[in-house]
Amino acid sequence: PEVWAVVPAAGRGRRFGGPRPKQYLEINGRPVLAHALDALLAHDAVRGAMVAIAPDDADWPGWTERRGKPVHTCVGGAERADSVLAGLRALDGIAPQDAWALVHDAARPNLALADLDRLLAVAFAQGDGAILAAPVRDTLKRANAAGGIAATQPREQLWRALTPQLFRRDALAAALAAAAGDGIVVTDEAMAMERAGAQVRLVEGREDNLKVTTPADLALVEFLLARRDA
Ligand code: CTP
Ligand code: MG
Repeated sequence: PEVWAVVPAAGRGRRFGGPRPKQYLEINGRPVLAHALDALLAHDAVRGAMVAIAPDDADWPGWTERRGKPVHTCVGGAERADSVLAGLRALDGIAPQDAWALVHDAARPNLALADLDRLLAVAFAQGDGAILAAPVRDTLKRANAAGGIAATQPREQLWRALTPQLFRRDALAAALAAAAGDGIVVTDEAMAMERAGAQVRLVEGREDNLKVTTPADLALVEFLLARRDA
């Protein structure tokens, strides 16, 4: 099946701070967003990308293609999920009806091709979709109201959801619209699909597929990318 990348890039980066959104800061001469896009488009199954940007985005570099594949833009929304839904809908008339949507944060510049390849293989083999995820490594504490420890939470079955996340485009659009209609802000695509009753597979991905949230994350990912490309 055809796969189209949907990249939410309409965030303001409030936790990062600074004048320009973090997805436009450069690492090694390329914006964070370019690293994310190029990593997605590097896979042969990915036909092109739809990037959701802020309505008043002054930093969008105006790309119409990268790696020889089309790059489209649309206007994102107030929450990440709104931006993803806008991207899925904007693919109408561009991607075929039965296309799959590969949703990936603009702020994750260090996606490995091997992880992407395993994600696609699992999603296509298992039906409802799949996400990259990493097992929780730390010991987890549940806090009480006084700031003490109420309990230690077993971590054996707990995973951190990463991106990309891969689903059928029409199914994901319906699930995101349903969640929004119920007033639920989903923080990833799988959460919307789970609510719709889908069986979503976890695909273990690399821990260094970091989301840039703070300036310290940018420094770390800069180091990781330099080491990878060395
Ligand atoms: N995003 C988006 N539309 C929004 C909010 C977020 O497209 N309304 C995107 C961001 O651009 C980012 C990804 O979703 O690529 C993950 O979000 P996050 O890391 O939270 O980025 P921001 O929302 O920009 O940062 P912050 O929450 O610190 O403001
Ligand atoms: Mg945010």
